[in-house]
Amino acid sequence: MAEPSATEPERPHQERADDAVIATRGLTKRYRGGQLAVDGLDLTVPAGSVFGFLGPNGSGKTTTIRMLMGLIEPTSGSARVLGRPMPRASRTVLPRVGALIEGPALYGFLSGRDNLLRYDAADPTADPRTRRERVAAALDRVGLAAAGGKKAKAYSLGMKQRLGLAAALLQPRRLLVLDEPTNGLDPQGMREIRTLVRELASDGTTVFLSSHLLDEIEQVCTHAAVMAQGRLITQGAVADLSAGARGRLVVTTPDAGEAARVLKEQGAADLVVDGDRVTAEPPERDLAEVNAALVAARVRVRGFVLERASLEDAFVALTGEGFDVAG
Ligand SMILES: Nc1ncnc2c1ncn2[C@@H]1O[C@H](COP(=O)(O)OP(=O)(O)O)[C@@H](O)[C@H]1O
Ligand SMILES: [Mg+2]
Repeated sequence: MAEPSATEPERPHQERADDAVIATRGLTKRYRGGQLAVDGLDLTVPAGSVFGFLGPNGSGKTTTIRMLMGLIEPTSGSARVLGRPMPRASRTVLPRVGALIEGPALYGFLSGRDNLLRYDAADPTADPRTRRERVAAALDRVGLAAAGGKKAKAYSLGMKQRLGLAAALLQPRRLLVLDEPTNGLDPQGMREIRTLVRELASDGTTVFLSSHLLDEIEQVCTHAAVMAQGRLITQGAVADLSAGARGRLVVTTPDAGEAARVLKEQGAADLVVDGDRVTAEPPERDLAEVNAALVAARVRVRGFVLERASLEDAFVALTGEGFDVAG
């Protein structure tokens, strides 16, 4: 389908599998009050990825997502979703995208099931004859089958979140965009969402999800982008991002004080002693020598490991500060 007012050159209609599902160039949003919420964002979300859009509160995640979904206009720059320019191609792109953005709009006086029936009825491409089955399947998928008859206003925040997700799952989608999908969920609810995201991804849906929780992204995402104050700090495969930062050296020993002294002498930095555990930023030299030095100093080494760097280590390495989840 051709976009009537497209001035930007369109790519051939079929995107290749290795094409980016979301691509932005210099995407910028300055709100009317003058707040620069998103600043020159170049984002590339590969097809088939579970892409974590990570950043503390206020870093511009929701603003970016609203621009991607054509809900607000960028101040400058451009965004393509499924290969088409947004917001211009909204009418062709949005039916192929399931979205859950900041607290789904629900009718409190209707049951969860009736909310979904209404939602499905608003989709002109949805066959009314199979509506009930679609809704039942979506409720089941998010674990609300038993609560489907309850009024939505009686739902907990987590249940409302899951109902919103069910609405996004009524149709098979190329892309799911979930803004903080685990907000307000208890640990069990968070696990359920993670499982669901993995299932969807294994069906071939690209999932773009935002979160201010680092370990959440690490547990479920193949790729991530890190935002801070409206700017992109880094993006790429999660494994590569953490590989960029060195892990910490962890020595377990009953002689922790002496171990710390030797490690420092060997060039280790940022030493932390906690009971029989000494952790440190490892020195540049061969770790076999460091271990030998400990043994030579009669430190009884029970454990000597280089812990894999986490995304948080990468974040700290990149920004020089801790990942702030406050707010
Ligand atoms: N409608 C708005 N008008 C003015 N400023 C806004 C608006 N929405 C968000 N902001 C500001 O833009 C920045 C980014 O917000 P947001 O995109 O909601 O971040 P996040 O989703 O990462 O928490 C924040 O400083 C926020 O206060
Ligand atoms: Mg937000």
